[in-house]
Amino acid sequence: MGRSSWDSKNALGELFSQDEISSRERPSAFLLTTGRSLATTPRPPEQTNSKSKLVAEYIASYQRITHGGLFIDGFAGPQSKEHLDAWTARRVLEIQPPRIRRFWLCELDPAGLIQLRRLKDAHHLRPSSRKISVMPGNFNRTVDTILLTGRIRPKTPTFAFLDQRTMECEWATVRKLATFRSRRKIEIMYFLGTGWLHRAMASRRDPKRIAECDRWWGGPTWRGLLGLRHDELVQRVVDRFQDELGYGYVKAYPIHLRESGKKVAFHLIHASDHEQAPVLMTRAYLKICGDIQNTPSDSQGDWVQAFGNAH
Ligand SMILES: C[S@@+](CC[C@H](N)C(=O)[O-])C[C@H]1O[C@@H](n2cnc3c(N)ncnc32)[C@H](O)[C@@H]1O
Repeated sequence: MGRSSWDSKNALGELFSQDEISSRERPSAFLLTTGRSLATTPRPPEQTNSKSKLVAEYIASYQRITHGGLFIDGFAGPQSKEHLDAWTARRVLEIQPPRIRRFWLCELDPAGLIQLRRLKDAHHLRPSSRKISVMPGNFNRTVDTILLTGRIRPKTPTFAFLDQRTMECEWATVRKLATFRSRRKIEIMYFLGTGWLHRAMASRRDPKRIAECDRWWGGPTWRGLLGLRHDELVQRVVDRFQDELGYGYVKAYPIHLRESGKKVAFHLIHASDHEQAPVLMTRAYLKICGDIQNTPSDSQGDWVQAFGNAH
């Protein structure tokens, strides 16, 4: 692959060409072909739809800037088998033009793996430079296989989507991705189930479930989270990405239960060491979710204090 703009110091000015700046007005670069008429298709849950649209919108910008890159989806099976049109892996694979060269789609559940293999059949080697690997099993183990393939070279832009349901992604896995030897850190989009995490933590009684929680947080100190408000909990995770894992640009993007409502279902925490990444991500958020108070797209408020850090 040639030298990407993501890597090039001199290209920073070019990242904000008039073309890029006007991308807000452009139609989205991803296509959806559900094969069913809109009249008969049940609407997907709004938060699932927003999440997948947001990730695909961001990746459409990311691949324009990086001229490609690699995509690791650690928890890739569809959230809802009824709404395959709101499935992130599918939306990202359908981005036009198809520039991301390699996908690792990881999944534990056999039914999800069947869907992923179908998705692979539709996109593998189309174009011929595009390779898709479906990785069965626990992502907390398959992550080692992916990192050992040798495909992630020091200059290869790599994005990891960690879309767990609640606590399936172990902190050790996040750390492995964050500390993988590369010129730039692997960029991470981490799902934080803000709306139900307190309940999930408080209900853990038996040792097996408590051990799962320990692995998710990377130790027993998760108990201290129970006394935090939602915004404090989000900030704690943002701080961990920044202080413990060394990411320069970390922001939390709330996804609402209803597109027009105020109740937050979950946050997507975006961590990168490239200064343009939060700019592109905030632009994608604005386009998909709108100009919402106390979020990175809030045109009125001081969202840096509310939901993120940038150094
Ligand atoms: C929230 S869903 C993913 C949703 C999907 N990203 C989408 O856009 O529709 C989480 C998925 O992770 C799978 N999963 C749960 N634990 C896992 C693990 N340890 N390793 C890999 N996949 C896992 C589940 O079976 C489920 O399909």
